[in-house]
Amino acid sequence: MSRTEDLAELIAAIGACQRCGLAAGRKHTVPGEGAVPAKLMFIGEGPGAREDELGRPFVGRSGALLDRLIEEEFGFGRENCYIANVVKCRPPGNRDPLDDEVDECSGYLARQLELVDPVVVVMLGRIAASRLLQRREPLKELRGQRFELGGRRYIPTYHPAAALRGGASVVTEMRVDFARARLAMLGAG
Ligand code: URA
Repeated sequence: MSRTEDLAELIAAIGACQRCGLAAGRKHTVPGEGAVPAKLMFIGEGPGAREDELGRPFVGRSGALLDRLIEEEFGFGRENCYIANVVKCRPPGNRDPLDDEVDECSGYLARQLELVDPVVVVMLGRIAASRLLQRREPLKELRGQRFELGGRRYIPTYHPAAALRGGASVVTEMRVDFARARLAMLGAG
């Protein structure tokens, strides 16, 4: 099977998933989307209301900021990278996903990483960073660093929702992290 067929099969499996309680409340699963393979992959936390409505990642206010930062810092559009989340179904009221929900979903994300095969993974927010890096430090302490795992480069940064709340200084820090990711993608950093 081709990589695209494997990914289509994975997305179908996610669409039918009943592994945790989030399945009961979802309108749509939000598996992820983008180029396959892709040098750059973004991983957020979990779908919000808009994403749940549409079945697509980062299509609400956070997504508009993410799209703008991708275009301005990488010089291409979201269709040139892959965007996914740690959990594929919306946690009620936008609460943080629970550890067991993240555990049940982790096989899907691991398989997506294999199939998308990015050089650089940008982790948006604490949930993605702590899960993928298996680190307990606050995000503030993780960001600013680059991590190497399994032949990929991992860059932690803020979640765009935190930048929407925190204002210009957080957006600036995200830009710095995106510039670091761009260098890592080009093999220069
Ligand atoms: N926040 C996330 O973490 N992911 C989305 O897809 C949308 C908002």
